[in-house]
Amino acid sequence: SNLTQDDLKKLAAYKAVEYVKSGMVVGLGTGSTAKHAVSRISDLLREGKLNDIIGIPTSTTTHEQAVSLGIPLSDLDSHPVVDLSIDGADEVDPSLNLVKGRGGSLLREKMVEGASKKFVVIVDESKLVKHLGGSGLAVPVEVVPFCCDFTRGKLEELFRGAGCKAKLRVKIGANGGETAPAVTDNGNYVVDLYLERDMGDLEAASEKILRLPGVVEHGMFLGIATTLIVAGKSGVTVRDR
Ligand code: A5P
Repeated sequence: SNLTQDDLKKLAAYKAVEYVKSGMVVGLGTGSTAKHAVSRISDLLREGKLNDIIGIPTSTTTHEQAVSLGIPLSDLDSHPVVDLSIDGADEVDPSLNLVKGRGGSLLREKMVEGASKKFVVIVDESKLVKHLGGSGLAVPVEVVPFCCDFTRGKLEELFRGAGCKAKLRVKIGANGGETAPAVTDNGNYVVDLYLERDMGDLEAASEKILRLPGVVEHGMFLGIATTLIVAGKSGVTVRDR
């Protein structure tokens, strides 16, 4: 078939929105896949096929998209229990553990999705991996700006055995030349962990990272996803954990 990767993302997103029922508090994910789910929810609201939805955005970008589409919004302070969240991921392993945060929104995503009764992950098949952090892409860690190079060094040391290189995420300035640290919605920085070998026990790795002073959160989502929707050239599959 002639489906593009973006078509696959849309197929997965639309399938996930079938889980949204009127009256629900819905966590709205961030990224190029989740964006399709948010616009689909607004379409169904406009058509009267869904009513009384309250969206909980996971980033300022999604907040802006949802506001522009007229989706009623709230936050975890007012709605500490979320019925259902829908979001993309950078990597998904066979146990539905995820790496997220290549777009930088991992902290708010983890807060909202961790507070959700159901968390539906939507991906195209390119995101499926055997081991998290094994795809040559990074495991992101949100850190406070204070002495971020110290924290970067500590993170690299933690996973030296896995051939870890830890890099502060930077973005190229408007003039094309200057680079500056990428800043998250929470005013923090991101250190990307590039691993040559997998980290072994993921829970242990998670604990080690979170114990470091200066670390705010990391992008491994362990045991949080409840449902996985994968869109591939041969169709859409749904799997529950
Ligand atoms: C945002 O920080 C990320 O966690 C995204 O959810 C993730 O990067 C998936 O994005 P795409 O759907 O654009 O691949």
